[in-house]
Amino acid sequence: MTVRTVIRGVGSYLPERVVSNAELATRVDTSDEWIVERSGIRQRYVAADGQLTSDLAIAAARKALAAAGIDGQAVDLLVVATATPDQTFPATAAKVQAALCRPGIPSFDVQAVCSGFVYGLAVIDNFIKAGQAKTALLIGAETFSRILDWNDRTTCVLFGDGAGAIVVTAEAGEGTTADRGILSTHLHSDGRQHDMLYVDGGPSSTQTTGHVRMKGKEVFRHAVVNLAEAVREALDANKLTAADLDWLVPHQANKRILDSTAQKLGLDPSKVIVTVDQHANTSAASIPLALDAGVRDGRIKPGQLVLMEAMGGGFTWGSALVRM
Ligand code: ACO
Repeated sequence: MTVRTVIRGVGSYLPERVVSNAELATRVDTSDEWIVERSGIRQRYVAADGQLTSDLAIAAARKALAAAGIDGQAVDLLVVATATPDQTFPATAAKVQAALCRPGIPSFDVQAVCSGFVYGLAVIDNFIKAGQAKTALLIGAETFSRILDWNDRTTCVLFGDGAGAIVVTAEAGEGTTADRGILSTHLHSDGRQHDMLYVDGGPSSTQTTGHVRMKGKEVFRHAVVNLAEAVREALDANKLTAADLDWLVPHQANKRILDSTAQKLGLDPSKVIVTVDQHANTSAASIPLALDAGVRDGRIKPGQLVLMEAMGGGFTWGSALVRM
């Protein structure tokens, strides 16, 4: 018998304010046509003044707990994946815990930028497999709007705010790919590329928050290679092929990256959950936001095989194969 980390509920939250490409074109020298053609993005959500990453995280987590029918007080591990915490410290998880979970449980943030949710999946899965948790809450939450240089057209058009969450429980499995739950996770990083995608500030360097800076073409080139590898690794580890997948739920950075990964896999584009057009890149929140979209509209069903993959600053990248 094997212990499996089974997703029991999914939830998400988007701020009210929608910012269209047309609105951005009034601020910087860009156009709806350019943004749609190069990225597939049509709009993004932006948090209200005073609305913090923890607020988004708590709203998404409440929905995931409700979907699971599990009380926040039953959670015994809380992980928040974010690169845009409310404060340098304490972790954003501390505020979420105070709002939703009982005092005393372990709670912390995971920082792997856009790969944060996949890193978080590996963390909670390993805690559960080690017998150190039975019910975990994993949230990806970001307010990237706060670290964008709104005068830099090469970055400000690409990102948005939002949060997504899952609640998982430890369940007995047979140790086969027919089991429900996380079947495997695969994480990677290459810090030699730390200056390809970064924020030009921080407590130890500038004592400021800083802004996102990116060598877009280089990031794109690495993303298509690393993501295809991460996907292949997950399939090989489970002796499966792309034909066995019901859904690909990728990190939503750029429609052209999604298309390229699907094409490399030989996966029908109709099996890829796409939200980048509506949400833009919400970093660690993008996978749970996309997962929730697919679950709530009935496309992703219990028992189906879902592959998640992401790449982000660091570089970090990885994948997770999950039977819903
Ligand atoms: N509007 C209009 N023109 C623009 C804009 C804009 N918003 N931004 C850049 N341009 C101009 C450039 O200045 C350049 O002009 P030039 O030729 O006169 O110098 C021209 O458009 C082409 O720019 P490129 O950077 O070559 O455009 P490219 O086709 O590479 O697309 C993009 C840029 C969309 C950033 C692409 O490289 C990309 O998506 N990279 C991946 C970045 C990414 O997804 N990062 C997210 C985090 S990492 C991850 O999650 C995978």
